[in-house]
Amino acid sequence: LPSEIYPDRRNSAGVEFGDRSELTALLEGIGRAGSAVAAAPLLPGYKPFGEETAVLSPADPSDQVGAVRFADPQLVKQAMKAARKGFASWSRLPVEKRAEALEKAADALGTSRDRMMNLLAREAGKTLDDGIAEIREAVDFCRYYANQSQRQFGKPTVMPGPTGEENRYGWRGRGVFACISPWNFPLAIFTGQVTAALAAGNAVIAKPAEQTPLIAYEMVRILHEAGVPEDALIYLPGAGDVGAALTAHPEIDGVAFTGSTETARAINRSLAAKDGPIVPLIAETGGLNAMIVDATALPEQVADDVVMSAFRSAGQRCSALRILFVQDDVADSMIAMIEGAARELSIGDPKIASTDMGPIIDETQRRMLAEHVAAMEISQSVRYAGEAPERGTFFAPHIIELDKASALKEEVFGPILHVVRWKSKDLEKVLKEIASTGYGLTLGVHTRIEATVGKVVSALDTGNIYVNRNTIGAVVGTQPFGGSGLSGTGFKAGGPHYLSRFAQEQVVSINT
Ligand code: SER
Repeated sequence: LPSEIYPDRRNSAGVEFGDRSELTALLEGIGRAGSAVAAAPLLPGYKPFGEETAVLSPADPSDQVGAVRFADPQLVKQAMKAARKGFASWSRLPVEKRAEALEKAADALGTSRDRMMNLLAREAGKTLDDGIAEIREAVDFCRYYANQSQRQFGKPTVMPGPTGEENRYGWRGRGVFACISPWNFPLAIFTGQVTAALAAGNAVIAKPAEQTPLIAYEMVRILHEAGVPEDALIYLPGAGDVGAALTAHPEIDGVAFTGSTETARAINRSLAAKDGPIVPLIAETGGLNAMIVDATALPEQVADDVVMSAFRSAGQRCSALRILFVQDDVADSMIAMIEGAARELSIGDPKIASTDMGPIIDETQRRMLAEHVAAMEISQSVRYAGEAPERGTFFAPHIIELDKASALKEEVFGPILHVVRWKSKDLEKVLKEIASTGYGLTLGVHTRIEATVGKVVSALDTGNIYVNRNTIGAVVGTQPFGGSGLSGTGFKAGGPHYLSRFAQEQVVSINT
């Protein structure tokens, strides 16, 4: 593997929030970058028409961030026609040329930082910390896949062997990929999917989440300006019906999807039923992520890491902590400390530097959280309910104590932490309970006993395991990210094998 890991690679730099001049420059930049965005499908020869939908900020419904003209599912046919042409020319470009465009896009994204941060805060409710981290992740995806594509697809490998012929093993793009991305990382996941597909030589039809079309639109424009032809990357904003038309199209050659397990299953069924080639689905789905804390763990560190894992980004990360298993000897003091730390969180305007938690993405999601808490109130298991601003779709942190983890059947996507107590002799039982959820995305362990770490790691096939730290914010190229079971298909995003599923192998044997 060494040649695939690239020790010389560098991730992008962030912002030193403690440095007053850096912070002031960021805040002023965000303030200046507020012009409204008007998004519409980007498809060669297509003139936008029809109704515009206003895009309002979840943090403040009086703030109109811009407007979007959504695509009609009928437009998928025209998009496919253009993308097939795009594929023919993009796939023939030398791999370095494609990588060059992605590197240029990374540079442009860096210089558009303030504008993108403005959009991330207003359209997606991202705090400054989260937004800057997301821009960095998007830049890193561009550069990582540009780099990886040249290593992996650059020159065919001459295979050793006994045939007396020259056997050249190489890769090529699959064709037209549908990239269907979520609202919780409207820039990073969108960019990661699209740049991976492009780097592997495919054309892309990208459908961002209905809630966050503007950030995706700006990113597509950056990629076009950086040299990705307009027919090799088509932007189709829309609702689920556009995604469904895309995955049912007989000429789709692959799908990259991040979102719910249920939608991933529906896409799988649609791909199985369609005519045309049998194609891959690369899905990154949900999690019922757990953290195991034993009596040897450092309480202050646990409290910090739990609050970060469960409540940062208002819990709207697929990596976020949902069930905390805490050993009963230390449970009371640990829960009290976590509650104390949760009380300190400042919830409100994501554009203010002191804000820790922004809004929930929309009213539908907020209502789901409120209904979950209401159901739990009936069984009197709500330990802590914070307070959130009334205006905008905010939802305060909650801590809910459960008798057993199986009381929670599905991922609850927001700032709600569930706590279950366990007895020191019952570690095996806890591990079985975690395995029996069927999900396997992230897992945290807080212990100072090395043997416990070993037991946990060998018992579970969870994709990303974090020991004595928080469970969020996987770093591109360093902590390749993605789960097993109900959590996704693999390969991991930001890892050395991700591009393989976007490409196909070819062997040419020459009788010399
Ligand atoms: N990649 C993100 C994280 O690690 C989650 O989607 O937090």
